[in-house]
Amino acid sequence: MKKIFLGVLASGSGSNFAAIAQALSQTDSYTSARTDDFKIELKISVLIYNNPQAYAAQRAKDLNIPTVLLDHREYASREKLDQSISDVLKAYEVDLVIMAGWMRVITQVLLDAFPNRLLNIHPSLLPSFPGIRAVEQALTYGVKITGCTVHVVSLEVDRGPILAQAAVEVLPTDTTASLQAKIQLEEHRIYPKAITAYCQKLQ
Ligand code: GRF
Repeated sequence: MKKIFLGVLASGSGSNFAAIAQALSQTDSYTSARTDDFKIELKISVLIYNNPQAYAAQRAKDLNIPTVLLDHREYASREKLDQSISDVLKAYEVDLVIMAGWMRVITQVLLDAFPNRLLNIHPSLLPSFPGIRAVEQALTYGVKITGCTVHVVSLEVDRGPILAQAAVEVLPTDTTASLQAKIQLEEHRIYPKAITAYCQKLQ
């Protein structure tokens, strides 16, 4: 049985973090999952958040998952923030970093510390609509199908090898909020599965 430790980075509500934690099933002090076929056990060992108001932190506390606040406003550069993130992740012996609504652009510092060990989820069918307000971008463009993408993180924002995608139909009645809600349901479904599948390949 190989243990793989996950570190989650979140800036906001943390619904993806909660979905991952739930999918991995709860234990007393950590969250874990067992995939007997592949003999691995996944545990979330820490949640790092950059915004003191992030509800993700409360969710982690409710699940007894350690939290660390690294407020980006206290750092002189993106690189310095990423060095602190890396230090915390290493201290928690993290093998794989999960960006779940992490609203900071990452640098080579973090990529070098965790090469091919950073995953992200984005609310569009990449490579369409990268960047901020992806749901709004898709709605404004008038696409009939959008969705979400799990990918390995590279230096270029919202690029990197695609691991999983799910499609969502855009209805004429959709608003940004209604479309976002439909996409999030899919995010919560595919992200835990993609993480587990990726971890199986990491062995
Ligand atoms: C998700 O829609 C994700 O695709 C994007 O940020 C949002 C985070 O939502 N990267 P939550 O904090 O997980 O609820």
